[in-house]
Amino acid sequence: MFELSRFSLEGRVALVTGASRGIGHATALGFSRAGASVAITSRKQPDVDAVADEIRRMGGRALPIASHGGRMENHAALVDAVVKEFDRFDILVNNAATSPAMASVLDTEERLWDTIMNVNLKGLYFLSQAAAKVMKKNGGGRIINVTSSDGIKASQGRSVYAISKAAVIMATKAFAGELARDNIRVNAIAPGAVDTRLLNNIWLNLPEDQQETIRSQIAEAIPLGHIGAPDEIVGAMIYLASDASSYLTGQTILIDGGVSVG
Ligand SMILES: NC(=O)c1ccc[n+]([C@@H]2O[C@H](COP(=O)([O-])OP(=O)(O)OC[C@H]3O[C@@H](n4cnc5c(N)ncnc54)[C@H](OP(=O)(O)O)[C@@H]3O)[C@@H](O)[C@H]2O)c1
Repeated sequence: MFELSRFSLEGRVALVTGASRGIGHATALGFSRAGASVAITSRKQPDVDAVADEIRRMGGRALPIASHGGRMENHAALVDAVVKEFDRFDILVNNAATSPAMASVLDTEERLWDTIMNVNLKGLYFLSQAAAKVMKKNGGGRIINVTSSDGIKASQGRSVYAISKAAVIMATKAFAGELARDNIRVNAIAPGAVDTRLLNNIWLNLPEDQQETIRSQIAEAIPLGHIGAPDEIVGAMIYLASDASSYLTGQTILIDGGVSVG
């Protein structure tokens, strides 16, 4: 019989990148509530310190580390710091990503390409590699990549972001295929519109009344009738991080309020 305890993360150690706000923040708190010790990153130490305090006030264990996801030299040190603090490493959530500007395919400059690809793809790949080496030595682990519905169906003006997220879906399959025999499961979550700074940045420069109009137009176009909240991604995160998903690897779960249904 299926036991609910298979969703538990009791005694596990997780690293969630980009956890100072938005989906990463909700995930870090959710993992802690499920029993995990959680290491959290973003580029700003005070921001991750605040999230660590929030977790500790809830009775959990947290390790805040400032680390830029686009700097390859950071990754091994980050994994080492987690192992040093908690003595093990079970779950990596590659959540940090950037989409600093919109540009048509005709106007996109190399600098924008490099910035996005470095964080969203190259950083994810090499942090996964560093984490998987430790997981393999320890007998297994879980990697969860946060991609996007934009990686499946492109939206205009965000081609580089969409290409990076499409590649994350393939990175998920590539790592899953090579690491399954090492008991490392690798899956992805593809959110649709979720109410975070990353989403709101798209219309940040418009007057406030126009921002509200766009928000309601987006909500109306979503079959479930609202823009997702970060908390609505957490259930799938816990499922993928826990033994509840023990027969699943290489897959991408699309959480988009039904948009893809048409
Ligand atoms: N919100 C949506 O509608 C949506 C839809 C589809 C997919 N997603 C994906 O969901 C994930 C989380 O995004 P979100 O919406 O929660 O965004 P968010 O609220 O803007 O949070 C992004 C997090 O990543 C961190 N971050 C950004 N650049 C970083 C870097 N170079 N190195 C390390 N950390 C970095 C940010 O902190 P600092 O800036 O302080 O470093 C922050 O903690 C991303 O992978 C995004 O692509 C979001």
